[in-house]
Amino acid sequence: MKFGYFDDTRKEYVITSPKTPLPWINYLGSESFFSLVSNTCGGYSFYKDAKLLRLTRYRYNNVPYDSNGHYYYIKDGDTIWNPGWMPSKTELDTYCCRHGLGYSVFEASKNGLSAVLTDFVPVGASCEVNKLTLTNMSKGLKEIDLFSYVEFCLWNAMDDMTNFQRNFSTGEVEVHGSEIYHKTEYRERRNHYAVFAVNAPIDGFDTDRDTFLGAYGENSAPAVVVNGKSGDSVASGWAPVGSHHLKITLQPGESRDLIFVLGYVENKPEEKWVGLNQINRAPALALLEKFNTVEKADAALAELASYWENLLSHFSVSSEEKKLDRMVNIWHQYQCMVTFNMSRSASYFESGIGRGMGFRDSCQDLLGFVHLIPDRARERILDIAATQFEDGSAYHQYQPLTKKGNADIGSGFNDDPLWLIAATATYIKETGDYTILDERTPYDNDDSKATDFMEHLRRSFLYTVTHLGSHKLPLIGRADWNDCLNLNCFSEEPGESFQTFGPSEGPVAESIFIAGMFVRYGKDYVTICRHRGLEEEAVEAEKAIAAMEKAVIEAGWDGEWFMRAYDAHGDKVGSKDCEEGKIFIEPQGFCVMAEIGKDQGLCQKSMESVEKYLDTKYGIVLLQPCYTKYHVELGEITSYPGGYKENAGIFCHNNPWISIAETVIGRGDRAWQVYTRTCPAYLEEISEVHRTEPYVYSQMIAGKDAPNFGEAKNSWLTGTAAWTFLNVSQFILGIRPDYDGLMIDPCIPKNLKGFEVARTFRGIDYHIEVLNPEHVEKGIAKLIVDGKEVSGNTIPFDSNMVGKSVHVTAVMG
Ligand code: BGC
Ligand code: NOJ
Repeated sequence: MKFGYFDDTRKEYVITSPKTPLPWINYLGSESFFSLVSNTCGGYSFYKDAKLLRLTRYRYNNVPYDSNGHYYYIKDGDTIWNPGWMPSKTELDTYCCRHGLGYSVFEASKNGLSAVLTDFVPVGASCEVNKLTLTNMSKGLKEIDLFSYVEFCLWNAMDDMTNFQRNFSTGEVEVHGSEIYHKTEYRERRNHYAVFAVNAPIDGFDTDRDTFLGAYGENSAPAVVVNGKSGDSVASGWAPVGSHHLKITLQPGESRDLIFVLGYVENKPEEKWVGLNQINRAPALALLEKFNTVEKADAALAELASYWENLLSHFSVSSEEKKLDRMVNIWHQYQCMVTFNMSRSASYFESGIGRGMGFRDSCQDLLGFVHLIPDRARERILDIAATQFEDGSAYHQYQPLTKKGNADIGSGFNDDPLWLIAATATYIKETGDYTILDERTPYDNDDSKATDFMEHLRRSFLYTVTHLGSHKLPLIGRADWNDCLNLNCFSEEPGESFQTFGPSEGPVAESIFIAGMFVRYGKDYVTICRHRGLEEEAVEAEKAIAAMEKAVIEAGWDGEWFMRAYDAHGDKVGSKDCEEGKIFIEPQGFCVMAEIGKDQGLCQKSMESVEKYLDTKYGIVLLQPCYTKYHVELGEITSYPGGYKENAGIFCHNNPWISIAETVIGRGDRAWQVYTRTCPAYLEEISEVHRTEPYVYSQMIAGKDAPNFGEAKNSWLTGTAAWTFLNVSQFILGIRPDYDGLMIDPCIPKNLKGFEVARTFRGIDYHIEVLNPEHVEKGIAKLIVDGKEVSGNTIPFDSNMVGKSVHVTAVMG
């Protein structure tokens, strides 16, 4: 069952019923001001940091779900309705929500009145614009009352939902005409406030929530709206809100446009005031001035469209597979951008107050993002590296506002350093920019300890080399990619964080997953060393890599698949000898991507085992058989009921690893099957089962051991976005940036006749036509670049062609 459809021309998903199985959201904003907006107008805004600078209040865990947002109430006679259906839930005559690239449009009508609400965050501005167009479609006169409504958050979202003894006394506002200012704490330690304004004179306002809602009132039927009259309330303490009241008269056929703006404004400390307790409104007025007419708002919306048009033009595919085209050209890349901006902080499953930016998460997000805005990728890599410790280990997370490591969680996740090499290699392959290696980069944000960035990579590489266990495999530390495999934790008390409990180091527990990573990304490290003329170091690194391959084959191969780990007792994890959790997905993906034991047939065997033991119709589960008991020696992974999350859920993130691994052994049909099984557009028809948004990935789909097999959770902020885009663009379609040029190495289902790709690579526009006349799965028989045949399958980078177009024909066979 579907709840909408893809509109590929407008690059939108159009939701046709407000009653989606879960709120289906979108993200507004691309740089510093962000809003989450659901298909019923739920959501909230923040500036840069979802925890520390939250503009509007949202309540997770509410009943009904998703019941706070930026709302417009229309009172037409006795009927009160909202363009997004919530919160009044008045049945609408027509409804649709169009989630597009950085904007959402709500089109609704009731009793002959239509409302079109367009929400977006303009490029380069710290505000959200809501353009509301009301049209009288009826034959009679319409006299309506319109009320806007936002509930302010007292900035620090964590304090906002906990420290009530203080909060109920701190709220302050100021109202000037149609502008409502939220200035809590501005008098003392803040130099920022929020403004909520409309570009028309108003007939009333409210800033005190109790006045607006009424005693024991609810968002669904605020007293002020029911009575059709604002209270002109000025909040003092309690809960500050912003609401405008406009009386609107519309002749039959007449329309009225209004522009509402919710903005974040900062003043220099010496310019905060214009009088006693009178805030300096000048920067707010300048901001509002930019969007105070329909023409200006429309121009800003058009600028947003061209911003996205330009970004997406760097990679696009045209094939006979419409769902592939739609995901590659629009939604995969869009989700990559969102994960780049949000990391794992703010979604409808991530509260924005928990995790900051993850070290490994952000490094992986770069893999799918670097071709979009390489400059921002460069900056991000250096920011991340600055949170590394001198021994090469790293803070597991950092705060986006301060860019400082998060001491609460600390370090000890032994895969982290290697992800920095992965991100850097991807960046260099995309851009050819080796100068990043010379950037002075601090450790633990301490400039006095800075070295060049190359030294960070060296310490990352050596961290693994110097932290090996008795099988010569990498020590796992707190955990590797699988945060829930906590082999040194041994937690028995409720409430202890599996992530931080127990020693961060363990002298015994080893990870075969990290071994696979080390081999795969170690090879990149070798290439980078050679490029810098560090031949001796390159040779040493190669020896360490060869030793690791040997260790994996000797101590990490279980006969039919790669084992997962050795626990703190030296016992096997992910082996046929285990009672449960016999086979895990992660080492199959990474060891095969690293081509460990390829010549001995281990890669082929490993992939066959994945298919045999881990496959389901909705994707590949993380492990089998699921854990049914709590194993104190394994940690959080065994705390989840079978089929959920890391305990045998279909963890979407590592499905593309398998798909890529399949391309390594040349099985295009299977790589494609793995790709499509979790791909949202291919699941749209079963939205009632899948339940999350059909345009983006979710972190997890319940596995076959769960009662709700096929139900997804935790949509949007998942490394799946980057890995999927990497998989489909670089390994299935096979358009792969390499150090010296652009490689064309498709691995596709044999019945695909071919495809075309437009790819901007280091300033050159490549138009690539891939033909598959022999119906093979992999292999390039002929590569023609601008009419000339080239040997091999890499188009060497030619700086003379920068700014020009290059035509490429690649014939498979
Ligand atoms: C989740 C993991 C997550 C970890 C760290 C665990 O509860 O299952 O997916 O990475 O927490 O936040
Ligand atoms: C989600 C975390 O964000 C990521 O870092 C981790 O690798 C996966 N969960 C698997 O545990």
